Amino acid sequence: MPLSGRWTLTRYLIEERRRFPGATGDLNALILDVALACKAIARIVAFGTLADTVGTSMPGGANGTAAVGGGVNVQGEVQKPLDVLSNEIFIRMNEWNGHLAGLASEEMEAPKQIPGSYPRGKYLLVFDPLDGSSNIDVNVSVGSIFSILRAPEEVIDSGRDVVEADFLQPGAAQVAAGYAIYGPTTMLVLSVGNGVAGFTLNPNLGEFVLSHADIRVPEQTQEFAINTSNSRFWEPPVKRYVAECLAGQTGARGKDFNMRWIASMVAEAHRILMRGGVFLYPRDTKDPARPGRLRLLYEANPMGFIVEQAGGRASTGRQPILGVNPGALHQRIGFVFGSKAEVERIERYHHEPVPSEAPAPLFAPRSLFRD
Ligand code: AHG
Ligand code: MN
Ligand code: MN
Repeated sequence: MPLSGRWTLTRYLIEERRRFPGATGDLNALILDVALACKAIARIVAFGTLADTVGTSMPGGANGTAAVGGGVNVQGEVQKPLDVLSNEIFIRMNEWNGHLAGLASEEMEAPKQIPGSYPRGKYLLVFDPLDGSSNIDVNVSVGSIFSILRAPEEVIDSGRDVVEADFLQPGAAQVAAGYAIYGPTTMLVLSVGNGVAGFTLNPNLGEFVLSHADIRVPEQTQEFAINTSNSRFWEPPVKRYVAECLAGQTGARGKDFNMRWIASMVAEAHRILMRGGVFLYPRDTKDPARPGRLRLLYEANPMGFIVEQAGGRASTGRQPILGVNPGALHQRIGFVFGSKAEVERIERYHHEPVPSEAPAPLFAPRSLFRD
């Protein structure tokens, strides 16, 4: 199938780079290697359970034998074979190119060093190699999420090994961020800090082709996404927001809402970028040791960067997600993002005093026990 005049990802990156005459092209080259990793993961994901038995040899050394995994990652979560394999693919496709000072991911407790046989560069790559992997077994869309940061000057100058502290930069410092979604089509959605562009993989060419220029999140929405099974652990502002959505036309909002929950943040974010909506995985009281479910550095920050670049809003519920100073590589955080007006409303509810509880019936005026 011909390109029909559409830009490839390579062309898009070159046109973007022309805005910065001094740019070396390192960032572009790095993004193309990340995109190659995503294409390799897309092929493996497409084999489903057949990945065990079908030869799916990948450039860079990783192959499609899905018999690894089954361990437990640093978050205490069981690693699916494809989590481990996708992590391996990201590393193999990016460790050699000379653009990175180090890598970090959901599946590795500590940062990964660039092997001594390769040159070191000025960027850090942080990623969730396979997001929503619990959906793999049921053939629902999954994805990969990545964030590119500049390594601290002192790391670049000295060429020393990276440490966790080098990665603890607020989301606002990201140079680029993106995700790939492995759905009915494979897409790459990317921001290099000048809006958001979506590319669809043309399987005949093996190329990402610009299909969604300048993605914008609609400001208004009537669709929300939250895991309601956690409702008893929600904080009062979240309970209020969801109750008002559910009350629909008869409640404070005066309009009906629709609800979706895929349990695959990439799929959820993609829907919101395409047609609006709001996503909440808020801080709750379920486990005091876990302030939220999603991870700041490789889930919330890159997605927050994309959503804000698309004119939406990304928040902890209390403050902009991109302003949070990370305390640890695998830090979890409450995350709310999507259509600007809804996220602002949720933030407002968090800052307003909690409406006082209605008096218990026995103590209400005219009851037996009133003062
Ligand atoms: P991962 O597969 O990388 O661990 O992330 C899964 C995340 C996210 O994609 C999704 O929104 C959320 O976990 C689902 O959580 P629940 O299972 O609590 O619904
Ligand atoms: Mn994830
Ligand atoms: Mn993951």
